[in-house]
Amino acid sequence: MEKFVINGGKRLFGEVKIQSAKNSVLPLIAASVINDGKTYIENCPKISDVLVMMKIIKEIGGKAYFDKDDLVIDGRGIDKWILPCDLTREIRASVFTVGALISRFGYASTCVPGGCNIGDRPIDIHIEALRGLGAKVIEGDEVIFDGTKGLDGCVTLRFPSVGATENAMMAAARGSGTCVIKNAAKEPEIIDLQKYLNALGAEVQGGGSDTVVVRGKDKIIGREVRIRPIADRIEAGTFAFFTVACGGEIRFLEESFPKYLFLSEIFRNNACKIYVKNGKIEVIKVEERPKGFGKICAMPYPGFPTDLQPQLVAASCFAKGLTVVVDKVFPNRFSFVEQLLKTNADIEVFGNACVVSGGKALTSAETYAGDLRGGAALITAAIATEGKSVVGGVRYIDRGYENIEKKLRNIGADVSRVDF
Ligand code: UD1
Repeated sequence: MEKFVINGGKRLFGEVKIQSAKNSVLPLIAASVINDGKTYIENCPKISDVLVMMKIIKEIGGKAYFDKDDLVIDGRGIDKWILPCDLTREIRASVFTVGALISRFGYASTCVPGGCNIGDRPIDIHIEALRGLGAKVIEGDEVIFDGTKGLDGCVTLRFPSVGATENAMMAAARGSGTCVIKNAAKEPEIIDLQKYLNALGAEVQGGGSDTVVVRGKDKIIGREVRIRPIADRIEAGTFAFFTVACGGEIRFLEESFPKYLFLSEIFRNNACKIYVKNGKIEVIKVEERPKGFGKICAMPYPGFPTDLQPQLVAASCFAKGLTVVVDKVFPNRFSFVEQLLKTNADIEVFGNACVVSGGKALTSAETYAGDLRGGAALITAAIATEGKSVVGGVRYIDRGYENIEKKLRNIGADVSRVDF
């Protein structure tokens, strides 16, 4: 079993190359099922969630392989619309493939998907959305979708679910009806999906806003499509919080990430400084211990992302004063706190919120990641704490970060991957 051994307490200096966004790449792999041709996803991270999606593509008859840094998916051989249960249980993003299969074959079947242990993750909004657009859905141990009559209609999502928005966009892409998705998620990764579907010949508008309109096109058959996804704002934000916890100065290389409001707000009036060039964050500089961050609420985009909530909680342990963190997207996403308490961190969880009293020295400890971003939080604490710490559950961290230990070593942290 692999673990990270970390000798912490070092400030971070240097450059970090940010990968393409995991949350853009996974739905793009799903969408490539619509394409009876080749899709090239450029600068695709070799993270384990991508490897599982590649296995799913192969199981349903397609080809998926890396050509240097590009992921190539050849959808010409895809001939099955039943998703393999063992793989769908491994990864939540497998559910996105449902919309793509409906587009391609009219039918799809999936088991309820698995994923990180961050609380309940049902698929009722996906089902409501696809039903609302005209698909028949039979729910049992497996969920079977029949969209052979064509999709045409208007749905309002009860919550702006990212995956349900993407699934509905894919399902509606091929056909002759017009579908409208209201209260859609507005995450920027959805714009990448819209670009891809349009490159296939669909007509999708409004991606990134709360209303997405998809005019189905029968002419989508198969073509060679290249797409370069946006940079991973969650990976970049994770490195920002590493720097907040440890101090130092890091520069994002090439694909730096847009100046999202949430980071500017967090760093306002604090010891953390961001330097922006051409609307993108280029440098993060932390010279002294920051003050507590006040109250921050994880919300759907453009709010503070739930995928950075655990890293924020861990970094707040090193900020002098109080930080209150509320998660309105995944209210139970605090299981990592139990592990952080092993370091004598002063954190109390109250329902969907936690209060961090930061600024007291933590002690090194052995902790265990139970989910991807919770794992990033444990690394945040370990690299900023004097002494030797161990972080287990590396397989969860590998789901979303490619070679995180190498990137951390490049900026001066002492992190090794050890097989115990
Ligand atoms: C996506 C992201 C994930 C991120 C999340 C929220 C990808 C591959 N993953 O996940 O990293 O944490 O958005 O920003 O893009 N819900 C239901 N029923 C449903 C669907 C969702 O109740 O059918 C609930 C979830 O339990 C959760 C909330 O809605 O509380 C948001 O989930 P959703 O936006 O769907 O997340 P994902 O698309 O799975």
